[in-house]
Amino acid sequence: MKQFYVTTAIDYANGKPHLGHAYEKVLADVISRFQRMEGRTVHFLTGLDEHGQKVQQTADKEGVEALAYCDQMASKFQDLIKDLNISNDDYIRTTEPRHKKVVQQILQDLYDKGEIYKAEYTGFYSARAEQFLQEKDQVDGKWPEIYGEVVEITESNYFFKLSQYQDWLKDYIENNPEFIQPNVAANPVKRFLEDPINDLCISRPKERLSWGIELPFDTDFVTYVWFDALINYISAVGYGTDDFKKNWPADVHVIGKDIVIPAHGIYWPIMLHACGIELPKHLLVHGWWLMSGAKMSKSIGNIIDPLSLVEQFGLDPFRYYLIRESNGFGDSNFAYESFVMRYNNELGNDLGNLVSRLLNMGARYCEGKVPAASVTEDPEKELQSLWNETAEAVLPLYQSYQFHTALDKLFVFIRGINRYAELRQPWKLAKSEDPKDRAILETALMLMAESLRLSSLLISPVMPQVAERIHELLGISLPETWQGQLEWGSSLEGKTLGEKTILFPRLEDSLA
Ligand code: MSP
Repeated sequence: MKQFYVTTAIDYANGKPHLGHAYEKVLADVISRFQRMEGRTVHFLTGLDEHGQKVQQTADKEGVEALAYCDQMASKFQDLIKDLNISNDDYIRTTEPRHKKVVQQILQDLYDKGEIYKAEYTGFYSARAEQFLQEKDQVDGKWPEIYGEVVEITESNYFFKLSQYQDWLKDYIENNPEFIQPNVAANPVKRFLEDPINDLCISRPKERLSWGIELPFDTDFVTYVWFDALINYISAVGYGTDDFKKNWPADVHVIGKDIVIPAHGIYWPIMLHACGIELPKHLLVHGWWLMSGAKMSKSIGNIIDPLSLVEQFGLDPFRYYLIRESNGFGDSNFAYESFVMRYNNELGNDLGNLVSRLLNMGARYCEGKVPAASVTEDPEKELQSLWNETAEAVLPLYQSYQFHTALDKLFVFIRGINRYAELRQPWKLAKSEDPKDRAILETALMLMAESLRLSSLLISPVMPQVAERIHELLGISLPETWQGQLEWGSSLEGKTLGEKTILFPRLEDSLA
């Protein structure tokens, strides 16, 4: 059976991991964990983009071989993945033989089919973007800052016949509106396709760039950036072998909005189509994390080290913040103030206090065990129907990658549990001798426990460790899938509750 195949962009090896990289990994991890909870087998790929001029230049500057430099960077990026508890199944490096082999195979196939030709080209070249530019890329007669120094050069190169597929791609995007998600992310691609597109230069002469993959039909040239990098999505899952169809077509490529045009929205679908390979089902495009209104990037130098945040605040709160605060396709602003606010209010007050209250009252009134529920009056019925509405709303939101709204809805339920506890006031009922009051007290504790079990299941793709911890505190273990587990009314009765615990110790506002 085909596995659910999810990928992230592969990170450039020429810079340290930053919050933007961390976010994309966490986002793809949430998708993977959600799919696993739904009972699917997932294949989750991430990796490192190691070739190109910038890597070569940085390695030269540091006086090391390019591969040795990439090895160091790979271990930094892999540490990030471990520290973020990312559940990837594979990690691809574009310097691996399994990748190079497939890149060369694709190049040879396209060359044999007449899709690649050699030509002389004079154009404006940006070393920073590693691409030729067109006059239309200028803004007010100047090259935008992102391109760095732009020089005019002439050289022979190999070109892929991109332009002949323009109409095909236009129709494809028109007829497959689900291909680019969210839908607004398709608009710039459609606009881009309104003007004629050029064929794609896919090579560099070795004398200018040797740190690439050799063209199989002309060893004086290497292929560069996109023709190399994009192919990772198929090389990693055994393109050309029987295993390939276990994963391909990919279900979702998670990418930032800066690499939709032209790489993933234009080049990639056309490359695949020209090779007769099915297209991925979705591109999921996310916005940028900004600090003080500017995208975080190496060249701007305003990079937050994600790991220092994890150390300060704990991993799951960090994951929660990224997913809850992120704006989907829009940009999100990283601010300590909003982190501290969400942490204290949502995690501390709404969720953490509820757990502490339950454990406290369980220990004081019920010998540390989950009691039985025997009362079903309006407050109980309302809590149950709030749960049903929540599950019904949250699952499709997860399915359609609207995670921040999913968390928002889930926390409406968590606040509903708190309201229920306030209404029933088990701490007051504990003073009464009336058996009816005792029955309500026990029912309330049971329902709080049950609601927490359900909430922690739904939160598990985002905060897997917290979900596990809450399950443990309820005397059960987190199941591998939530199938059959999301229905109200499990048998928590008699389970031993954990010791009193503060899941999210309050952060001082002064940290902000
Ligand atoms: N190597 C290419 C991708 C090749 S995919 C076949 C690349 N690398 S990157 O390191 O610059 O970016 C990796 C991913 O991180 C991209 O999806 C990019 O959009 C994302 N982010 C980089 N900075 C970001 C933010 N500040 N915020 C959110 N994500 C951003 O592009």
